[in-house]
Amino acid sequence: MQNTQHRRREIAKLALALDVGTDKEAYRILEEVKYKNIVIKVGYSLFIKYGVDFVRRIKERGFEVFLDLKLHDIPNTVYNGVLSATQIGVDYLTVHTLGGEEMLERAVEAKKNSDLKLLGVTLLTSHTERYMEFLGSRYSIDEMVLKLANTAIQKGIDGIVCSTKEVENLKKKIGKDFIAVVPGIRPEGFPSEDQKRVSTPKDAIKKGADIIVIGRPIIKSDNKNEILKKVLEDIQTA
Ligand code: C5P
Repeated sequence: MQNTQHRRREIAKLALALDVGTDKEAYRILEEVKYKNIVIKVGYSLFIKYGVDFVRRIKERGFEVFLDLKLHDIPNTVYNGVLSATQIGVDYLTVHTLGGEEMLERAVEAKKNSDLKLLGVTLLTSHTERYMEFLGSRYSIDEMVLKLANTAIQKGIDGIVCSTKEVENLKKKIGKDFIAVVPGIRPEGFPSEDQKRVSTPKDAIKKGADIIVIGRPIIKSDNKNEILKKVLEDIQTA
């Protein structure tokens, strides 16, 4: 039986954020990418327009699919949403940890007979301490992120989306193994664009990232495979 608490760390993965406007553009990128051992992150902009068929076509090309829908609703509605995700062959799905303990429990219950991995989103990086005031919370952002992440993992959520800045602390303080998914990654020499704090693939992995998320540096490049090759090498040697 697998002991999740002391599971040997697996090699990290790369998730490509497919943040483009149309399915045609998306398919063009997927045709160009020759590395199939990556995860394709699909946001709700493409999913709302192209739906299940779009997911199926990505899977047919050999990639894993990470559906980033950040579900946040009453427990029963989230249960049904997660159940639907298990039926369309998605590999990863995000839920919002602020949805509360019962919502998280029901999300976990919905995926129990599938290979779907649920990832918890804590506080969005767009929020500041003012949001804590807005919520009437006595916690700081850092305290709240830890509380939400810890609750989600104890309830059976498989992973947490967090920044490189948070990942080390979360891995240390959460007494159970989990998949740390880290966006805000820039290979050396790439502009940070609107990302406030960026880190290199190697740095993120050294701090505990299990899946690094990269979008624009790859999808905007004329030589996607060259960047992918370099990032995949960095992952192997981190
Ligand atoms: O293009 P870039 O590499 O900045 O894309 C990062 C991806 O990760 C985007 O899809 C973005 O929405 C997502 N993300 C993020 N920061 C978070 C959570 C998700 O950048 N805290």
